Amino acid sequence: MKTRNYPSNRNVKNHSVCGILLFTLSIIQFSLLQAEGGRTPVYARHGMVSSASRLASEVGVEVLGNGGNAVDAAVATAFALAVTWPTAGNIGGGGFLVYHSDTGEFTSFDFRERAPLAATERMYLGLDGQIVDDSNHSGPLAVGVPGTVAGLWLTHQRLGSLPWSELVEPAIKLAREGIPITYALQTGFVRNADRFRQYPASARKFLRSDGSFFMLGDTWFQPMLAHTLELIRDNGADGFYRGENAQRFVHYMASIGGLITEEDLDRYEAIEREPILGSYREYDIISMPPPSSGGVALVQMLNILEGYDLAALGHNSADYLHVLTEAMRRAYADRAQHLGDPDFNEAMPLERLLSKDYAAQLRAGIDMAQKSESSSQQIGQPYESEETTHFSVVDGEGNIVSMTYTLEYGYGSAIVVEGGGYLLNNELGDFNAVPGLTDEEGSIGTAPNLIAPGKRPLSSMTPTIVAQDGRPIFAAGSPGGRTIINTTLQIILNIIDHGFNIAEAIEAGRIHHQWLPDLTNVETLGFSQDTLNLYKSKGHAISQQGSQGAAMGVYYDRDSGYFLGASDSRRGDAAAVGY
Ligand code: GLY
Repeated sequence: MKTRNYPSNRNVKNHSVCGILLFTLSIIQFSLLQAEGGRTPVYARHGMVSSASRLASEVGVEVLGNGGNAVDAAVATAFALAVTWPTAGNIGGGGFLVYHSDTGEFTSFDFRERAPLAATERMYLGLDGQIVDDSNHSGPLAVGVPGTVAGLWLTHQRLGSLPWSELVEPAIKLAREGIPITYALQTGFVRNADRFRQYPASARKFLRSDGSFFMLGDTWFQPMLAHTLELIRDNGADGFYRGENAQRFVHYMASIGGLITEEDLDRYEAIEREPILGSYREYDIISMPPPSSGGVALVQMLNILEGYDLAALGHNSADYLHVLTEAMRRAYADRAQHLGDPDFNEAMPLERLLSKDYAAQLRAGIDMAQKSESSSQQIGQPYESEETTHFSVVDGEGNIVSMTYTLEYGYGSAIVVEGGGYLLNNELGDFNAVPGLTDEEGSIGTAPNLIAPGKRPLSSMTPTIVAQDGRPIFAAGSPGGRTIINTTLQIILNIIDHGFNIAEAIEAGRIHHQWLPDLTNVETLGFSQDTLNLYKSKGHAISQQGSQGAAMGVYYDRDSGYFLGASDSRRGDAAAVGY
């Protein structure tokens, strides 16, 4: 772990302990304070969890109330999300966690999925060199060796304080005793029903026993998942990677043509990595290193943008959007060219990409009147799923966790392990599937992110903590595939340059540009037509549809001693909960 010496409200509810978690909260008595989206943060005095699921945030806050630290709460929240937010919360996927203590130590944990040992560079290709039946995204060959349980276990061993079993237990209770079907769950299940019907265990989990859809307000029980979580509760990471669950997993994989073996599970290791450390104005940025591209691209963009008076340009003015776009264009070009799993790419030029000198060179090429061209190399950007989930935690000491994890697509591969009750990821789709093929249609075949046995696919997840004078102030991150990095960037700028509070920073309209295609995605809400016309007059093409990401943030206001939380109103079940 590194240490550095650095130079009232409409959606807020204040209620006593109640609801579905009453049974777990019986020992302690405290008031939960929560906000579900909106421009006003929830304020609390003792700690805060912001996640995509109110129930999971409550589990995390309960752990804080029982004397747990931010890591304990993060572990419990992550297991709870695997029950309450199955579109992305998981034990069959992977992700990243960044930690910053109140006393100045910071570190990160990589539990990204790995390719199985039997993987080969051309495993998805037919004799004609084309991807067969979308097999890098769909079906058993897309499944990577899961990392989540190993990552939570390693993080807890390094930094946790409460017993592991106490952190898994709330998720078991939620799975066994049932949770209400919300609108977000119901619509997700319906949308993915055809995928679930391909696998008997998936259909049993996500449809009623007669095959019909769950309805709003039904209670959803997950007894198989509860059993797997009990193995994890009692045996730690071994409960997932060895013994009963490993045999069940491997047997099922083999029965549907998957590649993952007991050796793959046995050899999986989460890794503690040195975070990416950057600076932006008087703040320090601590974020995720490769195999996520998030931290590198984020710091690179901040370095470029540091040369502008962004506040003077005005929030989401045409000039502001222009310089943001040009910073994004340049960072995403470097991302595509250089980044991959560090254990397979020793020569990644991280020092140069992160340097202020390099950013100054890139900035010098930006013309305020006219957009730049994206490279004629036409390295395209393959699809990355929007379905990931981020949560942030701050404990009463001011220690902060920022964690993003995913199954890749919503509900991952849609494959539930027979008898295990949990979904498997389809994360291997994040590798470059066709070596050497980079084209305008969106394929990318550059070497750093080609598939290889044991390798981790490149990610965009950007769990980030911003600190000042060695002490963490706020954390944020988001789902959204490649848009994640730009969502996190704009939240940081909204707070530092524009003086927004954490909730305003998350709610404000966002844009996304990723070098190629040379097109700016602009959210439907939050931008005037006049501004967009001025922006387009600089040569930019735009696509305006939908919303971008679902950020969850926490903020520690050291002056007042209050903890602030905000959950993105873009996502249904999300809530920031404090106490
Ligand atoms: N699967 C999305 C990401 O890793 O960025």
